[in-house]
Amino acid sequence: MSLRRSTTMLGVTRSGAPLSDSLLGRKIGRYLIEEQIADGGQGTVYRAKTDTGGMVAIKTPTLVTEESLASMGREAEILASLNHPNIVRFIDFLASSEVQAPLLVMELIEGITLEHLIKTRSIGPKERMTILNEIAEALGYMHDKGVVHCDIKPENIIFGDRIKLVDFGLATYQESITDRRNMGTFHYMAPEQGIVMGSICTATDVYALGVIAYRMLSGSMPFYGIGLDVLVRQAAEDAPAISSRSLAGPDLDRVMGKVLHRDVRERYQSAKDFLAELVLALENGPTSLLPQSAVVLVDGADGHARTRLPVLD
Ligand SMILES: Nc1ncnc2c1ncn2[C@@H]1O[C@H](COP(=O)(O)OP(=O)(O)OP(=O)(O)O)[C@@H](O)[C@H]1O
Ligand SMILES: [Mg+2]
Repeated sequence: MSLRRSTTMLGVTRSGAPLSDSLLGRKIGRYLIEEQIADGGQGTVYRAKTDTGGMVAIKTPTLVTEESLASMGREAEILASLNHPNIVRFIDFLASSEVQAPLLVMELIEGITLEHLIKTRSIGPKERMTILNEIAEALGYMHDKGVVHCDIKPENIIFGDRIKLVDFGLATYQESITDRRNMGTFHYMAPEQGIVMGSICTATDVYALGVIAYRMLSGSMPFYGIGLDVLVRQAAEDAPAISSRSLAGPDLDRVMGKVLHRDVRERYQSAKDFLAELVLALENGPTSLLPQSAVVLVDGADGHARTRLPVLD
């Protein structure tokens, strides 16, 4: 298997050993690994069958490094502590001498990512609010337990029977955050997660939910840019009023301005508070927000790469 991914730190490429053998077709413990579903930045996700015929998803680090192994353990521990209908369900965490890395076994979610949904069809106002509300429900639940996800973005949200949040690879307990972290996905990263000194907290995830809402309501991202440029803009500029990108009224401008506030202290601290005010602002505003031309989103807006940034102290 060739090296597929790398992480960049201070412009230096860091590499680890890829898993030496493909897991495809192998039986590990009670799981027969049938198909690769995705190859994310950090993990590879497979579809597998249990020995009782049930289907599960299995995630394993793409590269075996000390850091990736520790991160997979942390992800499993956090996921195992959560139980919510809008969060992927933990099943097992398996270390086997047959593989160099542990396997995180989860509920298999049948569906498409929200990223795919947004890019491929227009989403009506009612469905849009259901989606945002279910993400907010998941966030409200985990935030009450002190867990911050740190990578809320449409690729980590699966749309099936209901919305399910996946990828707790960067998740952390708020109490264990001693300084700012610098991993995430550029276009959804609040300034305190990216480039400005500050502590990550529940409002950091609320910012990312705000970016998703802005995108779903207006068809645009608040900020465009490549790599660090977008982080610098997020930290240095106010997000453009959503009325400059859509048919929004002043109430919606205020709510979106607050959820995307650069200063974490001025932002909504809770996803549910944001959603409640968003609903009211939409009730008072125009019924259709998306300009005709904005139904198809601009490509490259999603800041795919998960990159470790230089620490700018
Ligand atoms: N339980 C699951 N059921 C179905 N599909 C899943 C499941 N978990 C993850 N996926 C799919 O696999 C993709 C990659 O998984 P995940 O996001 O956990 O990996 P990652 O490497 O941490 O991702 P990233 O690219 O965000 O770094 C997800 O975007 C999703 O499409
Ligand atoms: Mg992911």
